[in-house]
Amino acid sequence: MEFYRGIILNPIENFNIEYFQDGLMAVDKGKIQFCGEYKIGLKNFQKAKEITRTKQLIIPGLIDLHTHLPQFPAIGKGEGELLPWLNNYIFPLEEKFNNPIFARKVSKRFFKKLKENGTTTAVIFSNSSFESTDIIFQEAKKSGVRVFIGNSLMDINAPHNLIYSIKTNISNMNKLIEKWHFRDDGRLNFIVSPRYAGSCSTELMKEAAKITKQNDLFIQTHLAENQDEIKFIRSTHSFKGSYTELLFDCGIINSKSLLAHCIYLNEKELDIIKQNNASIVHCPTSNRYLQSGIMPFKKYQNKNLKIGLGTDIAGGYNLSILQESKEAIENSKYYRLYLDKTSQILTKQEAFWISTLGNAKILKMDNIIGSLSVGKEADFILFNPEFNNIKEFKNTDEILSELIYSDSFKIKNVAVRGKMIYKS
Ligand code: GUN
Ligand code: ZN
Repeated sequence: MEFYRGIILNPIENFNIEYFQDGLMAVDKGKIQFCGEYKIGLKNFQKAKEITRTKQLIIPGLIDLHTHLPQFPAIGKGEGELLPWLNNYIFPLEEKFNNPIFARKVSKRFFKKLKENGTTTAVIFSNSSFESTDIIFQEAKKSGVRVFIGNSLMDINAPHNLIYSIKTNISNMNKLIEKWHFRDDGRLNFIVSPRYAGSCSTELMKEAAKITKQNDLFIQTHLAENQDEIKFIRSTHSFKGSYTELLFDCGIINSKSLLAHCIYLNEKELDIIKQNNASIVHCPTSNRYLQSGIMPFKKYQNKNLKIGLGTDIAGGYNLSILQESKEAIENSKYYRLYLDKTSQILTKQEAFWISTLGNAKILKMDNIIGSLSVGKEADFILFNPEFNNIKEFKNTDEILSELIYSDSFKIKNVAVRGKMIYKS
């Protein structure tokens, strides 16, 4: 049994966060046995008497619902809006990622950085090749991080080195599922990843949906991110209704869909997403970097839509989901300031809750991860604060201000299933 004593923040239901000034977490065989006040913990665990109080902060591991590993070297480098950015910077880089030596090097660096930033679960787009995606899985296996990884499905409108026939795309997916899905007791997972309707034929999207259903998998794509992208989709596919209806008709909108961006959706599209219990993945940093727009977070939340958070590297430039949660708060202020004076602002509690338990719920893994509740697998982060003495925070809000907005807490250790996967 391992004991950790410090300040604990533990997300619980309905955006609430439990806060223990002098908390104790007990972990045994990778699972959480206790999380609460130290004094109460002592009653059950006599051994914890030996643990002295420290300044450390303990929170659950962070979850990133959307990122592109092959784009890691492009952070901050590309310019322009989505379509020229893809054509000028991203597709050439994803072609370079077909080189196994380069793919290995980037993957190693990416997982190292991910752990430094406290991400214990990541949902990842690879490029389109089987071999490179296989390399990402190999490095994910070594890293100890939980992952959902998929080869970017593309059969149209991209350089020929990145495009595969529908048959090859299907065969690549089947090989990856066979080799990697649900390995290491569900730490490594495959996710079906039709890139976006701009680079997938309707036939490919339908086939992707079929494989998702047959294997009960998650599926991820981009939706309504940029005005020119929407026009491009209209010129690529001839369809009457909306972008969302096109995806729905292909079978892509369901309770295991992760729909990134979703900035420009009308009421009917929102209803389709809601009725089918699909999730929106908010990527605020990327939305600003690529000048895509401002997603109305609170409007969607008030409709009870499921909304998670993703870094969207390299549209986004933060690997840290805590930084991304700050961007989500600031984004909601911009939305209020420029677009709707009646809109509310996202709170720090909500942003922290989404980065942990909320994102776990979207992955239907909240019985396993997302918080420090008893019985869950012990994915957690230990932070060392810069202040000299033990500081008593008045409430959750005060400590979240310090955690999200200042850099006074530094990540010291990161654990998955109770095992340290990162030590600073
Ligand atoms: N839409 C299609 N591909 C991409 C991508 O790689 N990044 C972003 N942000 N949007 C996309
Ligand atoms: Zn993306």
